[in-house]
Amino acid sequence: MILITEFMDESAVDLLKRKYNVYYDSSLAEDSNSLVKLINKMKALIVRNKTLVTRELIENAPNLTCVGRLGVGLDNIDLNACEEQNITVYPALGANSHSVAEYVICASMLLLRKAYFKKNEMIAGNWPRQESSGSEVYGKTLGLIGFGDIAQKTRDLALGLGMKTVAYDPYLDKDSNVWKETKNLDLDNLLSISDIISLHIPLSKETKNLIDEKKLKLIKNSSVIINAARGGVIDENQLAKLLKENKIGGAALDVFNEEPVNKECAKKFEGINNLILTPHIGGVTKESNERVSEMIAKKIDTHLSK
Ligand SMILES: NC(=O)c1ccc[n+]([C@@H]2O[C@H](COP(=O)([O-])OP(=O)(O)OC[C@H]3O[C@@H](n4cnc5c(N)ncnc54)[C@H](O)[C@@H]3O)[C@@H](O)[C@H]2O)c1
Repeated sequence: MILITEFMDESAVDLLKRKYNVYYDSSLAEDSNSLVKLINKMKALIVRNKTLVTRELIENAPNLTCVGRLGVGLDNIDLNACEEQNITVYPALGANSHSVAEYVICASMLLLRKAYFKKNEMIAGNWPRQESSGSEVYGKTLGLIGFGDIAQKTRDLALGLGMKTVAYDPYLDKDSNVWKETKNLDLDNLLSISDIISLHIPLSKETKNLIDEKKLKLIKNSSVIINAARGGVIDENQLAKLLKENKIGGAALDVFNEEPVNKECAKKFEGINNLILTPHIGGVTKESNERVSEMIAKKIDTHLSK
């Protein structure tokens, strides 16, 4: 039996239903009591990033052999507990990368141009022409922190727009071909010279708070920062403070320390002008949902058919 706890494209769910018993309830991610009871009989579990696949859950899952992740970040899954119980974890590698890459390019253009948030002023009869003149992305330097699949796809789009690209990723071989059109920099250098900084690292013990107050202070006043990786990799409070003081030119945040963001947490962003906030949708589009769901349905089917 397969348990699906978060939204999945219906045609991929149907693909699984043709062969297996499937229990699909997208509200289960937030109902850990029901989840612990249901997991007992399951051979496969399919989640996004809201379901916490904890050691406790795994210990209540004697029949579980695999977990499909409708996305790529695995920070909501206890990988050690899975390994100890011989449970294979399948991320949807690459299936939502285009969506995130487009999000980053779009946010870069919106933040640098400063012209697209004037609807209310215009409807009120104003003509805010003077303050709506921003910058092109053409010729600007995009700094990518983490240079894996999403960052490389973002690089490809950026080069097509005439941008320069630099990246920081100490885990990539420095002689690799990926550095052909992108300068390999250390983190401090990247932060000091980039016009647009975009984060593409997983959340881990090592990357938690990687971009702290000291690192944020290296960023130029005119530069903008985009986080569509994970909330914990950047000090959100310090970023909000520096944006308010105009020490950083703007930001787009798709991911947050705590999700969903409540009114109290969101308060720190009040009054910041050049700021885009989105509810963790960088990788979520109609197309990516179809690709991610189909990929995971096939991986789970192959696993269970062995
Ligand atoms: N906002 C969204 O909807 C969304 C969607 C998909 C992925 N994500 C996030 O984006 C992250 C990146 O995804 P990806 O598919 O490119 O993953 P990836 O595994 O292809 O790339 C991650 C890269 O980060 C590098 N890295 C690891 N630790 C680092 C460190 N300390 N400093 C610098 N580089 C480091 C790795 O070497 C790797 O090249 C995911 O882990 C996930 O958290 C967010």
